[in-house]
Amino acid sequence: MAKVTHLRYVGISVPAFEQEVGFYSGIWGLQLVEKDKDIAFLAAEGSPEHYILRVRAGPDKRLDVVGFGAADRTAVDWLAEELAEAGVKLVAEPARLQTPGGGYGFRFFDCDGRVVEVSSDVEPGPYREIQPEEGIPVKLSHVVLNSPDVERTKAFYEQMLGFRLSDWLLDIMCFLRCNPEHHCLAIIRGPYPSLNHVSFEMRGLDEFMRGAGRLMRRGYRLIWGPGRHGAGNNTFAYFLDPNANVCEYTTELERIYDEENYQPRIWSMIPEEVDRWGTANTDPMLYNYMSNSPDRGLWTPPPV
Ligand SMILES: [Fe+2]
Repeated sequence: MAKVTHLRYVGISVPAFEQEVGFYSGIWGLQLVEKDKDIAFLAAEGSPEHYILRVRAGPDKRLDVVGFGAADRTAVDWLAEELAEAGVKLVAEPARLQTPGGGYGFRFFDCDGRVVEVSSDVEPGPYREIQPEEGIPVKLSHVVLNSPDVERTKAFYEQMLGFRLSDWLLDIMCFLRCNPEHHCLAIIRGPYPSLNHVSFEMRGLDEFMRGAGRLMRRGYRLIWGPGRHGAGNNTFAYFLDPNANVCEYTTELERIYDEENYQPRIWSMIPEEVDRWGTANTDPMLYNYMSNSPDRGLWTPPPV
């Protein structure tokens, strides 16, 4: 069984801080929870998660931290002990978290040097049911990481955090789950470790299209989409944020309830499987956008 319950948040550091916060709290549709001059925490209105995105001002573009939830303090303590025994380098021992919503957690480096946080007891934030026609994110859906060694990174998350394989796309991308959602984490082969994209779940198809259309009307270029993927069967509409990180609206992600009988599949790259509807416009620079720039924060804990 997975040792984490869900993806809580993604933390990034960017040079153009104000623009980034303005984009996500504005047209993208997140809610600003807390902000000072160099860090901001943003929530999705449909999710009890205290925040799902953290943006920090920094000279270098980097992934600061990927945060997963754990069941309780005991689960956090056990996991920290297990990881330390397995030789994983801890960044911080379990302790009360100093970030909004508090909670109890610890941080460690994954095999590529990314910082991962596992926490419990973070105070839920206010949330509400997103209504029909509201094209704003309900919650965080998934994070996709570029890694030069997909097999090794996959094995790390399987062995250390108990993730399970949901599907492969050829042998270049694997989709991992820690709960019935088909994936909250995916690893894709890239030239170097970096952030591939962060995906936000919309209420349904109508709300997904309304969100994508809102950006397009304001001149934001859809770099891939709208379409429906094979693996995960979720819809996709990808954009670039002001610091050239790729962000996605999605909906209708497959749920896997029959753990015993589920068999991972291998999807091919044919258009019928990558873009099942056949509607997705693809920017010729898509691969470069998704490769992102090399992460400048590997093996270096962020200051917060
Ligand atoms: Fe995605």
